[in-house]
Amino acid sequence: MAHETLEEMKVTPWEVSGDVDYGRLMEQFGVEPLTRNLEEKIAQHAGFMHMQLRRGVYISHRDLDWWLKEYEKGNKVGLYTGRGPSGNVHLGHLLPWFFCKYLQDAFDADLYFQMTDDEKFLFNDNLELEQTIALTYENALDVIACGLDPEKTHIFSDTDNIGSLYRIALKVAKKVTYSTAKAVFGFQDSDNIGMIWYPAMQAMTCFLQSVREEENIPCLIPAAIDQDPYWRMTRDIAEKMGYYKPSQIHAKFLPGLAKGGKMSASQPETAIFTTDPPGEAAKKVMSAYTGGRDTVKEQREKGGQPEICNVYAYYYFLFEEDDEALMERERVCKSGELLCGMCKKDLANRVKIFLNNFQERREKAREVLEDFLLK
Ligand code: TRP
Repeated sequence: MAHETLEEMKVTPWEVSGDVDYGRLMEQFGVEPLTRNLEEKIAQHAGFMHMQLRRGVYISHRDLDWWLKEYEKGNKVGLYTGRGPSGNVHLGHLLPWFFCKYLQDAFDADLYFQMTDDEKFLFNDNLELEQTIALTYENALDVIACGLDPEKTHIFSDTDNIGSLYRIALKVAKKVTYSTAKAVFGFQDSDNIGMIWYPAMQAMTCFLQSVREEENIPCLIPAAIDQDPYWRMTRDIAEKMGYYKPSQIHAKFLPGLAKGGKMSASQPETAIFTTDPPGEAAKKVMSAYTGGRDTVKEQREKGGQPEICNVYAYYYFLFEEDDEALMERERVCKSGELLCGMCKKDLANRVKIFLNNFQERREKAREVLEDFLLK
């Protein structure tokens, strides 16, 4: 059988390209595979197993078992995630935020949500600081629209909140040498010095709740696996600073609508943004890559290929919660009964309904934004 040549994978906190081999990545990063047992433990506390857990969105972890045990002992636990405000939010970004809402409810945990307007300014030649700061508050609306609890969610901008964050970041920075930063992140001599400082900011949030509450609180970070280098660095110094090592649960990337790669804000035609007019988003779905056959006749004979189809991936990760309905869709796709056009049309409709609801919640979030900001 002819194989397409695989594109070399590249996964750094700033760039994800090529065909991602998660097994190899997990080995390279030295993280533990997420087990059914751990998924079930989470589900036990939550009262149900989240679709993202059932569908394997989360693939690996560090010390999640320990974090769960701390909770089971009756100790307070916390959550941390973040967003680099470089543009509008797309559906891929929402996955971990919905998951944070699930964990927040299950573990009665505070969520610290970092908006890295500094990072996006430093790492992106085309963004002005004023833009990334403005996007911080626009993107915060999306976070809020995911249904988080205002009493337990603390969204903050690195630039606007630096007064309370700087002390912690300094203590982190003093413990990390330049040679470690180079080894972990691959910094080059030509990189600006802000980039080299920035990891101290992303690490700092792991300790923020502990500092504020003057008590050591186990922190769990749900994030895509490309962020892992930050946590490797942080885990090395956490105990030296007198805190627990932060735990992680790592997500895969949601595929974009074009062939291969993750959904990317830098390729707007391949991603559905929460701010897209629903009709526009539906059009994007209609021109998505499916891996369908060249002709209807061939499709009827050979069937579709859900394993490489992006439309199927959307049902799988977001738009078909019902496991049986999903299996049925897979079956009629593979048998050639369901043609790609019809399948896309169904998805386009679901996307429209989703966006209408989400956008309504997102607009309402403007009125309550203040309640969610770190005080
Ligand atoms: N660096 C992340 C980004 O570019 C933003 C971020 C900051 C983050 N802290 C985080 C993401 C913690 C996940 C978890 O989007």
